[in-house]
Formats: sequence, C-alpha cells, structure tokens
Amino acid sequence: MSEIFEIIEKALFTSSIDETTELTHKAFKLSHDKTAFLGSSNRVIQPIDRVCFPEKPRCVPPRDLPRRRLGTDAGKRSFIHAIAHIEFNAIKLALDIAYRFKNMPEPFYTDWLYVANDECKHFNMLCKHLAHYDCRYGDIPSHDGLWSMAVKTENNLVARLSMVPRYLEARGLDVTPAMLDKLNAQKDTATAEILEVILEDEVTHVEYGTKWLDFVCQRDGINREEVFFEHVEHFLKGQILGPFNKPLRRRAGFTDSELAELDRLDKRR
Ligand SMILES: [Fe+2]
Ligand SMILES: [Fe+2]
Repeated sequence: MSEIFEIIEKALFTSSIDETTELTHKAFKLSHDKTAFLGSSNRVIQPIDRVCFPEKPRCVPPRDLPRRRLGTDAGKRSFIHAIAHIEFNAIKLALDIAYRFKNMPEPFYTDWLYVANDECKHFNMLCKHLAHYDCRYGDIPSHDGLWSMAVKTENNLVARLSMVPRYLEARGLDVTPAMLDKLNAQKDTATAEILEVILEDEVTHVEYGTKWLDFVCQRDGINREEVFFEHVEHFLKGQILGPFNKPLRRRAGFTDSELAELDRLDKRR
C-alpha cells in the first residue's frame, strides 16, 4: 500500500484526536504529489466498524442531549461543542470515503483529503473557541447520527455520496444561516465568524459530492437524480426535512428539478 493510504488508514484507526488531525494534515500535504496515489488499487481495506473514535464524548441517544439554547452560556457551550463533534466526525467521514472506495481517478482522493483538511480546520477553530467557555471537546455527551450513515453506506459509493455530502452535509447549508442570524442578533461575532467560514467551505464539500456522484453515474450509465432520490427515500424513510437553502444548494450543484423534488418530499410543508 502506498504511504498516503497508510497514513489515511492510521488516521482512521486511531482513537487519539491529535493523531487524527496531525495525520490528516500529513496526508493532505502528501496529496499535492500526484504520484502519491500510484499502485494502491490492490490495497486491503479494513471494515468500517473498526474505525476508532475517542473515548469521549460519550455517545447518547439524541433525546438525552443537553439543550443548546443560544441565550445562556451553558447553551452556547453545548451548541459549540455539538458543532465541534460534527466537524470531528466529518474528518473521519472524508478520510473514510478516500480510504474505502478504490479505483477512482486521483482527483477523487485529492478532493476528499482537501475536505478532510478543511474539517480539521473547522474542528480546531471550534476547540479553540470552546476553551473560552472553559470546555474541551469530549466534555459534553454527543450522538453519532452522522457516522451511522457512513456505516450504512460502507459498500456503496453512490449511496455514500448521495447521503453524506449531498444530504447530511447539505443540511448544514440549510440550517446555518438561521444560526448566524441568531448569533449576530446576540452580537456574538466570535462564534458567527467561525460559522461563516464553515458555511462557505461546506458549499465546496457538497459540490464535491455532486461532482463525484455525477462522475460515477456517467461512468455507470445511471441517472443521477433518480438514484439520489432512491437513496434518500431508502435511508430516510420519508423523514425529509426542509426548508432548503436554494441559492447555496444551487452553488453546490443541485438542479432546479432536484430542489423541486426535495420541496415536494419535505415533511414540514
Ligand atoms: Fe466542516
Ligand atoms: Fe464538510
């Protein structure tokens, strides 16, 4: 196995936070060398259930999570911690898609390592900010909704691209602007500035989801929109929640007909 995939594998299969982020930076740097991916099509892939996470935060069902009301210090702390948890999981998600799916063109791997590196940046910014609230990542219980979708799509790249970047990450584009409005109304510019950086970067991550879903669909003669909605229905069983941020989703490659179909499926309408 080439060195870069060994590093990605180590970053996935460590429960150390620092090791995960340091190895991700290292793999990202190496990815600038186009020869780094040569000779790795016959590498052996470890099953996804062996991917490691830190012992803390403790994993609890969503109903047992602390309230994240932005009006109090405790609520703000839980809110920032919850986003840091999403970002840490997003590092592992981006590493996993690069690690697990073989025989893709080299830009597929450089794109997802770029994303993994962005997610490290987001995670580190939030950890630094959490310190002002006398809190460290791991202090507050969290849930594993994001990662469980990676597990469910372990063997299916079309499902992974549809559900992780194009559904779950795309939800971030829908909900973040309202969070920014609240933070700005509270004059919490420090938190708002971090979320603005994240929001802009996430458009690119969702766009990469579209780009690679398009690639696989064209290669395999599949209709992208049909297959996207098949997976959305299959995995979410009708629990599709809007409203959807159409301008940002358009920038990330959603077509007008996809946006119209999402509206039609929206449980809240
Ligand atoms: Fe992120
Ligand atoms: Fe992301």
